[in-house]
Amino acid sequence: MGEEATAMQDTAASGAGIRDAIGPLIGRNRIAADFYDGPGWPRFRRWEQGFLMFGGGVRHARMEIVRHVLDIRKTNAMGLEVGIGDGENLALLPRGWEVHGVDVARTRLEVCLARYPSISGRLAWAEGEALPYEDATFDACWSIGGFNYFRDHEAALREMQRVTRRGGPLVVADEVPGLHRAGIGHLIGLPWIDAYWLRALGLDRAFVEMVLSFDVDLDGLVARVWPGARRYRIWRGMGYCWVSRNEY
Ligand SMILES: C[S@@+](CC[C@H](N)C(=O)[O-])C[C@H]1O[C@@H](n2cnc3c(N)ncnc32)[C@H](O)[C@@H]1O
Repeated sequence: MGEEATAMQDTAASGAGIRDAIGPLIGRNRIAADFYDGPGWPRFRRWEQGFLMFGGGVRHARMEIVRHVLDIRKTNAMGLEVGIGDGENLALLPRGWEVHGVDVARTRLEVCLARYPSISGRLAWAEGEALPYEDATFDACWSIGGFNYFRDHEAALREMQRVTRRGGPLVVADEVPGLHRAGIGHLIGLPWIDAYWLRALGLDRAFVEMVLSFDVDLDGLVARVWPGARRYRIWRGMGYCWVSRNEY
């Protein structure tokens, strides 16, 4: 192993370059952090990639969302990704951008840092519901792939508004909640079958229960908290992407 790779691993392992701004996690955020920090996520990730492939290829599926972030047309913007995970979207953004990221799963931030050492100092272990930044810090703010199971969607949407400059794009995208209801188990009245295959894909028991019992009207909520926002259909209708120009 080369010196650079060893140094990257050391940095990631020590957590240097990741700001600690997390409080006690409860509810859905606790379940999400346990899952994304645990062994199930690398297994589930393969299925997620397959899902995005079905959406026209991974890059295309991500660009359906990222294009709205890029709409700002600045070469040197400052942006924030809420739920940055392993940093999969970083390569799709202009090199001149200063991108920051938060996540409730510490392990994901460490992996992101190991993959992109230049992001050191711009990652925070924090909840989307309590962003550790001053008002109007960023030109754009986005969340891709984690929003459905945030503990408090309204708080997170308001925080994204607060930390973004007036007029900046706010973007939230995820799969349409309740997709599992198209699963064979639900169709034949045996929902435990769907719980079984969701576990087989890598989700842990608590996450599966959270998915199966989810009943928040996200479309209604986003439309109320971000008035004027527009909903785009993505991933062949299996996903949504809400886009707003910050009026805060
Ligand atoms: C499916 S991953 C997506 C990661 C990345 N955005 C991407 O597009 O590949 C969802 C991420 O959101 C994080 N997350 C979930 N709930 C969160 C919350 N309330 N605040 C911040 N991050 C959260 C998870 O820990 C996980 O890393």
